[in-house]
Amino acid sequence: MVNVHVDPVFDDEERRHRIFSGDVIVYTGVPAVADFANFTRSLISELFAPEDPVTIHRSRTPRQLADDLIEFKPRFIHHPESIAHVRRITTALGADPGSIHADVPKLRTAFPDGGLNTGIAYAFQAHRDTWYGAPPQQINWWMPVWPAAAENVMEFYPRWFGTAIENNSSDYNYYVANTWRSRIKDFSGASDVRVHPAPVHGLPADEPRLCLVPPVGGIMLFSGDQLHASIPNRTPATRYSIDFRTVNVTDVREGRAAPRADVECVGTALRDFRRLSDGAEFSEDDVAPYDTAGAQGVKVFTPS
Ligand SMILES: [Fe+2]
Repeated sequence: MVNVHVDPVFDDEERRHRIFSGDVIVYTGVPAVADFANFTRSLISELFAPEDPVTIHRSRTPRQLADDLIEFKPRFIHHPESIAHVRRITTALGADPGSIHADVPKLRTAFPDGGLNTGIAYAFQAHRDTWYGAPPQQINWWMPVWPAAAENVMEFYPRWFGTAIENNSSDYNYYVANTWRSRIKDFSGASDVRVHPAPVHGLPADEPRLCLVPPVGGIMLFSGDQLHASIPNRTPATRYSIDFRTVNVTDVREGRAAPRADVECVGTALRDFRRLSDGAEFSEDDVAPYDTAGAQGVKVFTPS
């Protein structure tokens, strides 16, 4: 059973424990989250000015949008203010910046169904982040930038938390995927041929789904081991959202984590996480239990 907690009062320790049990946490009306949304809206509005970013798909072709976002998304991700917002949000919600590591925040764009949905604007099918090399301690933080709707967000498939589902994660190697990251333009057209782990037999039409729609200024936290997907955007508006990921150092060292029932990918994303207080990386001793012995490829992607 998955519980959804809205504006809970429990502390970070209990929150992590509950998330590793499959619960989802939603906070509403968090000033630090509203600040990050506001900052991001300003940058996107500047990018597309004088047009409205929410309807930009009406005036630009998928190719133009891909070019715009290939330039913009890395600039947003690596903007020094972006990680500063992550630090302020996690601190405001009770996590100690000296005890958690985060990776850089990602901006997601979901254009109305039929629009750009490959490469730089990939619409994720049902997956666990752990199939993509995420450490089992990973907590995902997801927040809308403009108001979202049930027809354009993401959804969970809660009955699979902790229950194995046949999937092709064994085809995915995180260190090979790192070599694709500098070639995102190649995958942003008709052919996105990257490996995307998914359930081998799909999900039935009557699969129980959980869809939460936090308000702007709100944020939702869930385990990277939850089975979830971007849903096809059935609204006329482009959905912009931010997600980032954290892990707690003690959880990593003591192995406290989500179940990871059916993960067979190669490699780990743990080296991408930096301590929020000072930018420190995990040591190779910390990473080793989560790595795959002998795995070859690019361990850490460095943007050019
Ligand atoms: Fe995901």
